[in-house]
Order: sequence, then C-alpha cells, then structure tokens
Amino acid sequence: MNGLAILVAAGRGERMGAARPKAFLPLAGRPLLLRSAEAFEAAGSVAHIVAVVPVEEVEAAGTMLRGLRKLSAVVPGGQRRQDSVLEGMKQAPDGFQGVVLVHDAARPFVEPALIDAVVSAAAAAGAALPVTPVVDTLKRLRDGRVVETVDRTELGAAQTPQGFRFDVLARAYEKAFREGLTVTDEAMAVERLGEPVVVVAGSQRNRKLTTPEDMAWAESLLREEARA
Ligand code: CTP
Ligand code: MG
Repeated sequence: MNGLAILVAAGRGERMGAARPKAFLPLAGRPLLLRSAEAFEAAGSVAHIVAVVPVEEVEAAGTMLRGLRKLSAVVPGGQRRQDSVLEGMKQAPDGFQGVVLVHDAARPFVEPALIDAVVSAAAAAGAALPVTPVVDTLKRLRDGRVVETVDRTELGAAQTPQGFRFDVLARAYEKAFREGLTVTDEAMAVERLGEPVVVVAGSQRNRKLTTPEDMAWAESLLREEARA
C-alpha cells in the first residue's frame, strides 16, 4: 500500500513544561518524534512520511529523521493542530488517492500492526481511528454539580493514527475551514460531513505523553521491557 503518514509535532508541549517542544524530548535517549517515525518506517502500508514541526525545529528534525527511507518532507506547522495537518497534506504527491494518516508524534509507542489496521479500515470505510474503552464512570457536570452519569458503554477514547481516504479528509477540512470550525481531531471534521468513521482497537501503550508524569511512566515502561 502507499499510505502517506503525517506526523504532527508542531505543538509547544506547554503541559510538559520543558524548554523544547515535547516531540523533541528524549525518551531513553531517543526523541518522541524519532520513535514515532520509526514505527511508520516499519509499517508495510506506509510509503511516505511527512513531519510537521515548529519552524525553529525544521533543521533539527531533518537531521534527526535523515536515516528514514520513507521521509519525504519536513515542514513547519501552524497555530492549531488542524493548521499543522493542512501543511502536511500539502506535501502529498500530485494526484494522491491513497490513505493519509495523521499521528501525534507524542504517541511514541504506536505499533506497525496498528498503523496497518488503520490503513485497511480507512481504505474500506473512508475514515478510521483507534479507540480504547473508557474505564472510569463519567459524570456530566454543571456549576460544580452532577447533571447525570454518562453511559460509558457508548464511549471510546480517541487515539491516533487516524486514517482517511485522501479525498474524504480533503473535503472534511475544506468544510471545516470554510465554516471556521476548530476540530480537536481529524475524525471530528469527517463526522461533521456526515460520513462514516469506523473504529479499530487502540491500546493502552499507545497513550499520548502530555505531562512530566507521562514521561516518567514511559521511561519505566522501557526499563521494564529492557529487563524482560
Ligand atoms: N500539534 C501540532 N500543531 C499544533 C498543535 C499540536 O502539530 N498547532 C501536535 C503536537 O505536536 C502533538 C499532537 O499535535 O504531537 C497532539 O497535541 P498535544 O498533545 O496537545 O500537544 P501540544 O499542543 O504540543 O501540547 P500542549 O497542549 O500541552 O501544549
Ligand atoms: Mg495541545
């Protein structure tokens, strides 16, 4: 297959509170962006990798990723996540009709098997994303009071990579930008089109690293696995 993977790494990582954007922070010596990119390099369904990074990190990212055969571009991102994704989409080969994947570089434990599963599901259905079950009981709140308990059997937590037939994401983004909509993930833009989005099983390992505590969790996971 000839999937195009857009790795979004242009966020500031404010909740990480580090000097550098979080995708550039080392985890057991290797930056999150590099770890993420290597999973896409290894996935059979992916032909091209585009990295979207802060403007001042374009050069460093190019150096970091130079060993990847599938790397096709490193470009600066935008203000919002969707602006960064749009910059990545502009790097698609002319007439591209395959599946485009969008992945948070801050999820360094993504596995090639999950990537391939998302590409297959997206090729068949138009749009697909990994979800994990919600384990806590969720309450809808207003003014410090519980309004109701939400039925969690109907809920899933969205992960990345999210996959789309290129034309589906292009139409979804065209509508979102035209209507001035800010979306929190790409699937939400497709939902607004009223087109189907299917789910595949995500994993706890594929969690997004947001805070210093998440980095500590990731370091200890790698230490455990190195011992095993
Ligand atoms: N992202 C991006 N461009 C933006 C905002 C986010 O490419 N304008 C990317 C981030 O680099 C990250 C992914 O989207 O890999 C998920 O976003 P998030 O976890 O919120 O990362 P940050 O926005 O960097 O972190 P924070 O919200 O804590 O500042
Ligand atoms: Mg953010």
